[in-house]
Amino acid sequence: MSRFWSPVVHNLTPYVPGEQPKLTNLIKLNTNENPYGPSPKVQAAMQTEIADTLRLYPDPNADKLKAAIATYHGVSPAEVFVGNGSDEVLAHAFQALLKHDAPLLFPDITYSFYPVYCGLYGIDYRTVALSDTLEISTDDYRQDCGAIIFPNPNAPTGRLLARDAIETLLNEHPNQVVVVDEAYIDFGGDSAIPLVSRYPNLLVVQTLSKSRSLAGLRVGFAIGHPALIEALERVKNSFNSYPLDRLAIAGAAASFEDEAYFRQTCQAVINSRETLVGELTHLGFEVLPSAANFVFARHPLRDAATLAAALRERAIIVRHFRQPRIEQFLRISIGTDAECGALVKALEELLSA
Ligand SMILES: Cc1ncc(COP(=O)(O)O)c(C=O)c1O
Repeated sequence: MSRFWSPVVHNLTPYVPGEQPKLTNLIKLNTNENPYGPSPKVQAAMQTEIADTLRLYPDPNADKLKAAIATYHGVSPAEVFVGNGSDEVLAHAFQALLKHDAPLLFPDITYSFYPVYCGLYGIDYRTVALSDTLEISTDDYRQDCGAIIFPNPNAPTGRLLARDAIETLLNEHPNQVVVVDEAYIDFGGDSAIPLVSRYPNLLVVQTLSKSRSLAGLRVGFAIGHPALIEALERVKNSFNSYPLDRLAIAGAAASFEDEAYFRQTCQAVINSRETLVGELTHLGFEVLPSAANFVFARHPLRDAATLAAALRERAIIVRHFRQPRIEQFLRISIGTDAECGALVKALEELLSA
């Protein structure tokens, strides 16, 4: 607290990211990073970019990256927005598209940055309870609202909403923007991007942090009708002209040129997830069906916070949320098979103690 603060700062409740420990030799299954490195083509493209040209500002529009994303997803560059991580893209979407007189709707259990952005931008919101099985029920969104946002698959549950259900939601809310945050869609879901050409109220947000192994580069993007993109550009150009640096633009564009590597690493994560689900179930955990690179699981006989602390003592970090309805769950990111194996072994020992 300080008398020098602008009034709005006093009331902010900032987002708390998962721990990035300085210790090495930890098995880090807490922030949904990809256990595999980025494509060698990404690293090569970035190496080339380390040159005298770094003294020059990057392209403020990141046209090269927008073109790569547009080609990959079969849309026009005017339908693409890029930002410094999808968090920044989401932040601009909250400010540019989600602030209306009627409240913004999002699930009661979801990405915890959403209420933080509402606090920052003074957006009125109302949460919509997930069902008892922790699923989004689109029927519950049939209410007066200014806009809607949810992740698909949802975080931290990992549960997927079918594209048909998203289409129903879009038809039921033709006058509201619907933002689908697809941070984890490449691990087993159908993207809503093909719906963009028919629904001018749909904005799909994706990230290169998860399925493209580039959390450290900070690149995210949105695809939507050019009018929605223009709103994002207006906010972005009122905030920071150069959110993506030269290395990020080069590396991110190259990641869309290595489809084989992308498919191979996504499939490896999916395979490890299925193995881990089987093993956790065998240990007595209830595991929610996951279409993401993490699983959300609880043990009927063990306290989740205690389990998380015990795993940490064994140098394995998973994420635990002290939040109503989910305080007995652990969110476990999918690591390599060796990392998942070490987790299962540690849990086996803890459960038999
Ligand atoms: C649902 C969801 N959306 C967006 C993000 C932000 O990802 P990034 O800013 O790394 O693109 C995350 C990160 O964990 C997430 O879980």
